[in-house]
Amino acid sequence: MPETLTPPALAADFGKTVVAWQRRHGRHTLPWQNTRDPYRVWLSEVMLQQTQVTTVLGYYERFLARWPRVTDLAAASLDDVLAQWAGLGYYSRARNLHACARAVAALHGGEFPQSAAGLQTLPGIGRSTAAAIAAFCFGERVAILDGNVKRVLGRVLAFEGDLASSAAEKRLWDLATALLPEQDMDRYTQGLMDLGATVCTARSPNCLLCPVQPLCLAQQQGDPTRFPIKTKKLKRGRRESWWLWLEREGRVLLQQRPATGVWAGLWTLPLYDDEASARAALPGEVLHTLPRIQHALTHFDWVLHTLRAEPAADATPPGTWVAREKLADYALPAPLKKMIEEG
Ligand code: ADE
Repeated sequence: MPETLTPPALAADFGKTVVAWQRRHGRHTLPWQNTRDPYRVWLSEVMLQQTQVTTVLGYYERFLARWPRVTDLAAASLDDVLAQWAGLGYYSRARNLHACARAVAALHGGEFPQSAAGLQTLPGIGRSTAAAIAAFCFGERVAILDGNVKRVLGRVLAFEGDLASSAAEKRLWDLATALLPEQDMDRYTQGLMDLGATVCTARSPNCLLCPVQPLCLAQQQGDPTRFPIKTKKLKRGRRESWWLWLEREGRVLLQQRPATGVWAGLWTLPLYDDEASARAALPGEVLHTLPRIQHALTHFDWVLHTLRAEPAADATPPGTWVAREKLADYALPAPLKKMIEEG
């Protein structure tokens, strides 16, 4: 039963090895490192939840420049926060970010709670994010278990549990906790993240460069990519929509999406479920068809067809005409931002 094998000796070796490796080979100069300010660490962890480091880099400093303290963010309007977030995706994160800032300001006197348990009571902070913030800022001995770390530990332990099952996931949390080193929690936590991002990658792990390779049970079994095991396949759907790119005198017609559903609260071109409805919104206009856009969301692939026109002044769909130079103030979904910038 390899997966239950976490004798103290393995735990001690594993933790020390990860810490020593992080010191020499890990990442040290990311803008959210070398600080113990929970606001800065929290912001980075939320941005990094579903987004690559390279993408986050462009947003992180701009966010901090605009709202240097959590109380500044709490005082901002949700629309402004969504506008700054536009393009990072998974917009519930931005809504939770704002709600969390407000909770810290209103319920905690503007200071983040100083423990993982306290942090986890806040909007948008799950168990792993709470643990990361607590380890980085307060050195708390708590385990993280995000997607990358599930992969690293799933392999090192040759964890046979199916992570589609919450019982198996709970066992992996317990094992992650049993593996924690006695000290250096910040470096250990960053080391696990760095290993997952740079060495123990999903498809082609670089076991030759891996510091814990001698301890890794999956590597000893010869096929590290067999772990972690997760059977539940996401059934992805496909959806098609048509939207109207209407531009007149340097202004673009936008509509705000409802507060729930896809792109909730963001501003988009007027959207329709079928081509006939889109055309019916502008009877008599000449509409140009642009190349279609494929956009992957969590549960479906979205094919967006764009029809472009410069309509006469009256008889356009409802919405807000926004000058091109003002578009940056609006929260636009990434593919729209890109399309307008390029067109
Ligand atoms: N992903 C999640 N947290 C991270 C961090 N602190 N550094 C790099 N990548 C991360």
